[in-house]
Amino acid sequence: MSALSQKHLLGLKHLLKSDIDLIFKTADNFKEVLQRPIKKVPSLRDITIANLFFEDSTRTRISFELAEKRLSADTINFSSSGSAIKKGETLLDTVRNILAMKVDMIVMRHSSSGAADFLSQNIEASIINAGDGTHEHPTQGLLDGYSVREKLGELKGLNFLIIGDIKHSRVAGSDIPLMLKMGAKVKVCGPPTLIPKYIEELGVSYEPNLKKALEWCNVANVLRIQLERMDIKFIPSLREYSLFYGINRELLNSVKKNITIMHPGPVNRGVELNSNVADSKQSIILQQVENGVAIRMAVLYLLANRN
Ligand code: CP
Repeated sequence: MSALSQKHLLGLKHLLKSDIDLIFKTADNFKEVLQRPIKKVPSLRDITIANLFFEDSTRTRISFELAEKRLSADTINFSSSGSAIKKGETLLDTVRNILAMKVDMIVMRHSSSGAADFLSQNIEASIINAGDGTHEHPTQGLLDGYSVREKLGELKGLNFLIIGDIKHSRVAGSDIPLMLKMGAKVKVCGPPTLIPKYIEELGVSYEPNLKKALEWCNVANVLRIQLERMDIKFIPSLREYSLFYGINRELLNSVKKNITIMHPGPVNRGVELNSNVADSKQSIILQQVENGVAIRMAVLYLLANRN
C-alpha cells in the first residue's frame, strides 16, 4: 500500500498497521534527508499549512514547523492569545476564515478532547491532531514507536510499560493503540486513581508495583503528572508520587535489565524522572525529539499526496 487509509490524522486508533508501516518507511527516507548538508526537499512546494496552537507547546509546535519548512511548504502559525478568539469567535469560524485564505492543511493542538475530530466533520481540508485534551497525540505515538523500533529493531513481542498519569495522558491514548497494533504487549503502572477504570478492556494490564512493572518491561515510557488537566486532586502530593513512582538510578540499578527509558516531555526533573536517568545512555528522550521531525514530515507528505 502506498497511500494512507485516512484523510486526516485524528488518532492512532483509526490507523491500520499498514498505515503505520507506511509512515515509518516514509520517515526512514526523510530521516536520511535530514542527515544531508541541505536538509530540504521540494515535496510540498505550493502547499500552505496552518499550525493552530490553542494550547502551549514547545516540541510539537517547533517540530511541525521545521518539518513543513524541510518539505518547502508555506506555513502560518496561529496561537489563540492575541487572536479574535478572545472576541468570541468560534473555533469553526476561525478555521473557516483561515481556510478561505487558500490554506491547504491544518495542524491543530487544542485543550478539548475531540476538537480535531469535530473540525474534520465540518471542513474539507486535512487535519492533523497535534494533541487534543486527554484524548490522543498521534504524531507523538508515531515518533515513540519509531524511536523504539530504531533502538530495538522491532516492536513485535516487546514489553512496553507506561508509568504515571495514564488517566489524563493523550500520549498514552496514542501509544497504547500503536504498540498493540504493532504486536507489542502493553502494561501501565501508577497510582490507581490515575489509571482509567476500563484499561484492561483495551488489552492493557495494570501493575501497581513499580519495581515489578520495571522487571517485566523492555521499554518504559515515563509520563508527567498533568496537573493542568486535573480539576480535583488525584494524588496527595508530588513528593509522595515521586517516592512511589519516580524513576531514579538506584531503582533502575536494582532491576537487572537494560531498560530503554522514554519521556514525551516536558520532563519535571526530580518528580517522575531523575536527571541521572533522563541524561543517561538508557534514555532516548532526545532521539524521540529528533525523530519527531522525520515522522511529521512523513505524515504531512502522505496526507498532502493523498488529497
Ligand atoms: N511532547 C509534547 O507534546 O511536548 P510539547 O507539549 O512541548 O509539544
